[in-house]
Amino acid sequence: MESNATGATEPTDATEAGDDLAALGRVGVIGSGAMGIGIAQVAATAGHPVSLVDSESAVVAVALERLGATLERLVSKGRMTAAERDTVLARIGAVETIDALPECSLVIEAVPENLELKREVFAQLAEHQPATTLLATNTSSIDIGSIADDVTEPERLLGLHFFNPPPLMRLVEVVHTEQTSPAFVDHAAALMQTWGKTPVRCASTPGFIVNRVARPFYGEAQRLAEAGVADPATIDAILRDRGGFPMGPFELTDFIGQDVNLAVGTSVWEQTEHDERYTPTLFQQQLVSAGRLGRKSGHGVFTYAADGTVERPEPDAALADRLVGGPIETDPLARTVAMLVNEAADLVHRGEAGADDVDTAMVLGVRHPKGPIAWGREIGFDVVADQIAALDAAFPGGRYRVSPALTDGSLT
Ligand SMILES: NC(=O)c1ccc[n+]([C@@H]2O[C@H](COP(=O)([O-])OP(=O)(O)OC[C@H]3O[C@@H](n4cnc5c(N)ncnc54)[C@H](O)[C@@H]3O)[C@@H](O)[C@H]2O)c1
Repeated sequence: MESNATGATEPTDATEAGDDLAALGRVGVIGSGAMGIGIAQVAATAGHPVSLVDSESAVVAVALERLGATLERLVSKGRMTAAERDTVLARIGAVETIDALPECSLVIEAVPENLELKREVFAQLAEHQPATTLLATNTSSIDIGSIADDVTEPERLLGLHFFNPPPLMRLVEVVHTEQTSPAFVDHAAALMQTWGKTPVRCASTPGFIVNRVARPFYGEAQRLAEAGVADPATIDAILRDRGGFPMGPFELTDFIGQDVNLAVGTSVWEQTEHDERYTPTLFQQQLVSAGRLGRKSGHGVFTYAADGTVERPEPDAALADRLVGGPIETDPLARTVAMLVNEAADLVHRGEAGADDVDTAMVLGVRHPKGPIAWGREIGFDVVADQIAALDAAFPGGRYRVSPALTDGSLT
């Protein structure tokens, strides 16, 4: 396959496109915000020439300056040589507009989370890039099929969902629509491996894997606090110290931002036609309407001093002892884990992701101590099914529906 003047190549089918990606074709990145510049760094470090486009040229300049400073820190820590830093920076160039983007093997879009904006970007890309250019969106929550509407050859459109910050987070969800060519999915996944990432595959389902399966981690804790079963500090301590989660759900949502976490949950709820499983809690809605957004506003579930020190009540260890191992309705750990397993089982049951990919995604994406399917296998899927059924009896209404995969033997 020949290179053209820009260093890009012209594949003629999906297989050749894959060869082209492996041959370090040019990567275009649209949007140079938090995610775009990180993705550009990863692609350039993997050896690709990278063209970065942002609607605000000043933003690109600042992003490149920051990247220079980041790489400088890596050099001073001995994790990169000055020559490697120069090579990576030299591979990244800014381009004014999408129309002016040279031919690319792959373009990754990372503009703000807005369907209309993304559709405009892809319509322009489809018009100006060759039909064989693989087009990817880094959306966290928008249905990728709906972005594909204005794309000619929609079989080349998929999601490459990087996690923040892209250079440090290994996980990439490779998300396909009903139209995406399986060959392109294979090639994108293989490419992510050459970039040092761990790809997992999933269908374009609300929240993909991580943002879908993680919902009960927050929702169960909020419901338990709302019902007065335990206070947030005690629930956090149970999940952290006895469950092995790196942070409890309240400290984690304070860290993420209650508004950001609520927006993700609400998006999943809306995209699932208001499935009761994802109904936002009053607990979190009230926090957000009171401006208690978490660390960034100095006050969320807990209070944060200017230096970031958290002020929170001591967990009630005696209460934790009584709750853990007690009835499922009031056991924060068993109830949360059962719901994580159930959610993951449903995703696998619907054929939206494979069991191993779900486990990998939850461990790498949100650092859960175990993948939910492996956890369910350990507990016993029949035990989890009984726990969910007991929760359904206690709290009827559809939130606690037993996944068919827990009882049909398909996961064992
Ligand atoms: N921030 C995260 O933690 C995170 C994690 C995973 C995925 N994402 C997703 O990645 C995408 C980008 O998020 P972000 O946090 O980097 O956003 P951001 O706001 O930091 O950056 C977006 C950039 O896009 C630029 N832009 C806007 N319109 C443009 C256009 N028409 N053409 C070119 N550039 C344009 C903006 O000037 C800005 O620099 C979103 O879809 C988001 O959901 C974000």
